[in-house]
Amino acid sequence: MQKYINLAVAKGRLADTAVKALEGMEICFNDYSSNSRKLIHMDQKKRVRLVLVKADDVPTYVEQGAADIGIVGKDTLLESMASVYEMMDLEFGKCKFVVAALKDYVENVQRKTYVATKYVYVAKEFFKRKGKSVEIIKLNGSVELAPIMGLADMIVDIVETGTTLRENGLVIVEEICPVSARLIVNKASLKTKGDIIETMIQQLRPNQKREEV
Ligand code: PRP
Repeated sequence: MQKYINLAVAKGRLADTAVKALEGMEICFNDYSSNSRKLIHMDQKKRVRLVLVKADDVPTYVEQGAADIGIVGKDTLLESMASVYEMMDLEFGKCKFVVAALKDYVENVQRKTYVATKYVYVAKEFFKRKGKSVEIIKLNGSVELAPIMGLADMIVDIVETGTTLRENGLVIVEEICPVSARLIVNKASLKTKGDIIETMIQQLRPNQKREEV
């Protein structure tokens, strides 16, 4: 009997799109719905077990082999130090990394610039490349609040529709890079379950190159 493939997917918006993409490959999780609190869903016929985890935990599940493959945003992957294969760009869950500030923000060159973000690595690398010294303040969410509350001058965050920035009076100062969902694979699973994983990849989208992150 074919082994189960354990697939870890980031809960929320990405999971909805991922489940739809998998349906296109006739992998179906009949009891999945976006408002369900169930964390494991099975396709008994195709032998795929879907586990819904926090986005930040997807690379960890895959690195440790608790999941064979994962679907996670490139934003999370860039921050993660996990040793996994990034197999393909799934081209959904598209958004972008940006630097944003309040509409009327003017830089004060007399003092340091404070940047609030969930993405410390991405922010550090971005400002390092620009040769600009900034102070990074790590937050865990709702970072748009930081400039409003005087906690930071700017933010580094992902923007999808732009609604959160707009509704909080912030504007994009600079775009950093595009972001989309990626398929990641556990290194050992690629050997032990390689055939099944390769088939899934081919069905999701052919002619992709493998890169190590
Ligand atoms: C993300 C991001 C922005 C928002 C952008 O937050 O950090 O706040 O989405 O989306 P938009 O451009 O479509 O408005 P998320 O919803 O993940 O919550 P968080 O702020 O708690 O991280």
